[in-house]
Amino acid sequence: MKKKYIVGNWKMNTSIGEAIVLAKVISRRAEDFKNIKIVLAPPFVWLTALKEELSPRSNNLFLGAQNCAWKNKGAFTGEVSPTMLTNLVDYVILGHSERRRIFLESDAMIADKVRSALENDLTPIVCVGELESKRGEGVDKQIVNQMRHILDSVEKKELEKIIFAYEPLWAIGTGKAASPRYTATVIDHLRQEIESRFGPELAEDVSFLYGGSVTAENIKGYLDYDTINGALIGGASLIGREFIKICSFVSGEN
Ligand code: PGA
Repeated sequence: MKKKYIVGNWKMNTSIGEAIVLAKVISRRAEDFKNIKIVLAPPFVWLTALKEELSPRSNNLFLGAQNCAWKNKGAFTGEVSPTMLTNLVDYVILGHSERRRIFLESDAMIADKVRSALENDLTPIVCVGELESKRGEGVDKQIVNQMRHILDSVEKKELEKIIFAYEPLWAIGTGKAASPRYTATVIDHLRQEIESRFGPELAEDVSFLYGGSVTAENIKGYLDYDTINGALIGGASLIGREFIKICSFVSGEN
């Protein structure tokens, strides 16, 4: 059975002290959750300290970055390159809607970042989702386009390493999560995009997560659908108790 992922995107939150406490609280329980992979994505500046804090860590707890540049080095003031991240993290979130919307990252830029991350042995967690406030109006052209940009720029072997996260803008931080059924429909549609280019096996193998107002209360609904392979969690990942509860439901410990 495919392992499920629970990814905590801490965004621009936590002090160093809070970050360490939160990571410790989660790492103490991580080993109980056998069949899931837990990824914590704190702010860049806490990664080194957390890596030390979590080492040696249980083998299902990983660190991730929230973004990276598309170049390995050079005159890119303020950016962090994938090469710099290779010894710190295993995963990198790319194309989050906040990056697309606030920092105007284009589909082409995100595709370049995905390629660079792969070249540096990082696993990209690529976010796709309608950016407008169209709530549940069927599979939006925008999502398919975002997906196609990625599919156009990677080889079959590389695609196997990518994790996708469906995150509709209207569900992020709003408390209005997309229903599990609707989420499954969108994800199945995105799997068809993969199938039409790379065949049914790969379409089934690629992991798709859901993100947007996931809580310990609503997570169970998503578990009913095999096509949803875990969750990308913002707000609820900052509360140790809540995040652990989510992990325990997903791992079937509860
Ligand atoms: P949320 O954020 O869980 O706070 O809605 C999810 C995300 O932005 O990845």
